[in-house]
Order: sequence, then C-alpha cells, then structure tokens
Amino acid sequence: MAGNWKMYKTPTEAADFVKALAPQVKDVHDKTMLLCAPFTALQKLSDAAVGTNIAVGAENLYWEDEGAFTGEVSAPMLKAVGCTYVIIGHSERRQYFGETDATVNKKLFAALKHNLLPIICVGETLAQREGNETFKVIETQINGAFQGVTNSHWTSIIIAYEPVWAIGTGKTATPAQAQEVHAFIRKLLPKDVANDIRILYGGSVKPENVKELMGQPDIDGGLVGGAALKVDSYLKLIKY
Ligand code: 13P
Repeated sequence: MAGNWKMYKTPTEAADFVKALAPQVKDVHDKTMLLCAPFTALQKLSDAAVGTNIAVGAENLYWEDEGAFTGEVSAPMLKAVGCTYVIIGHSERRQYFGETDATVNKKLFAALKHNLLPIICVGETLAQREGNETFKVIETQINGAFQGVTNSHWTSIIIAYEPVWAIGTGKTATPAQAQEVHAFIRKLLPKDVANDIRILYGGSVKPENVKELMGQPDIDGGLVGGAALKVDSYLKLIKY
C-alpha cells in the first residue's frame, strides 16, 4: 500500500506522520507499506522510518547520476537519503512536466541500475476512455516504458494503473473496470514473470472502497494520494 504524498508535507510533518503511524503498524507483516514524499522531506522521513517496517520512496528522479542538470535529483542521491522505491511517469509528471514513455524508460533504467524499485505509472485520460482507446493507450505506455527490459529486471518492477480521470476526482474506477485493465496489463508482461509482478491501482482509493478494489484477482495493492495524507485514513487502507 503506497502513499504518494505529491506536493504535500514539510520534513517535520513527514517525520511526525511516521512517528504516529509506526507503533500502530508494527505487527503488519503481510503488506508492504511505502510512503513517497517530496525530495525535501525524504531525509527526515527515512530517519523517522529507521527500525520500522515502513519504506520510503521518491516521486520522481532524473536518469543521469550527476551533472549540470539544474533542479534535478538522481538515483544515487535518493539512495543516499534512504529511498528504496521511486515513482516514475506519474500522470501529473506526464501532463504538467512533459514526461513521455521515452523519458519514463530512461528513468526506469536509472532506478534499476541503482537498486531502487521503480513504480511505473500508466493510465488513460477520460477522452481516451470515452474514445475506446484505453487498451491501445495502455499497451503503448507499457511497451514504451519497458523497452529493453530483460527477465532479470522484471521482478524488481512495480506497475501502477492510474486512470487519469479517477485521480483526485473522487471518481474511482469500479473494481470491474480496474480489474479489466490490470488483467490486460498482466497479459502484456512476459508469461514466466507476469504473476510475480505487482500491479497497483491508483485513483481515489479510500477506506470505503479499498477492500473491494483489493479483492480483485489482478489488483495487488494501491497507490494512494489524498487518502494517504492522514495517519488515520492511511491506517484504514492498511488494515482493511
Ligand atoms: P488520489 O488517491 O488522490 O486520487 O491520487 C491518486 C494518485 O495519483 C496516486 O499516485
């Protein structure tokens, strides 16, 4: 169950979240708990998470290790502040910051090179869904993102299906709609690893709908924005 905090939380707020959460989840062993935070909060967040079962991730990275790339942050830098995961190609990155399947692919390889577990996001817009293009869009995104990936890499990769029309809108894909796309994605993956790859659903996951969504055979977890910003609500997602 991954939280994507987006552009919320100062370092202190991030650390306070973990301090409040950790004692309440110390007996959770059947789920991975991951909090993905803004770059500026990562150090304090991972310091607070030391000795807990909570993992820390970033929301983006740049594909070069270092260099003259003003404003960017690299995989080794994320490792140095305690990240083990990184979200790549979130629809907000694609929509507002010009990310493409090609840049997602470069970022994926940068993450893998430095043993950061990448969470690769795909998803269609409302216009694409209404135009019956969902499967074509997803297939193009998957093929582009994973170009050149070999079998040894696959088990480190996590995929998140996030229909753009369901993000932050309160409109969740129905469990059947989500399941349909998750099953489609799994079919696109190499057969020998497909069942081992975690495919997360994202888009208005909340305590009221988490159980039904997670009950679908091809939904392996959630990537959650709004409902992961408060400890009580995130806790309900963990203990559904
Ligand atoms: P919401 O849960 O706020 O809809 O956001 C989903 C998301 O974008 C997670 O990456």
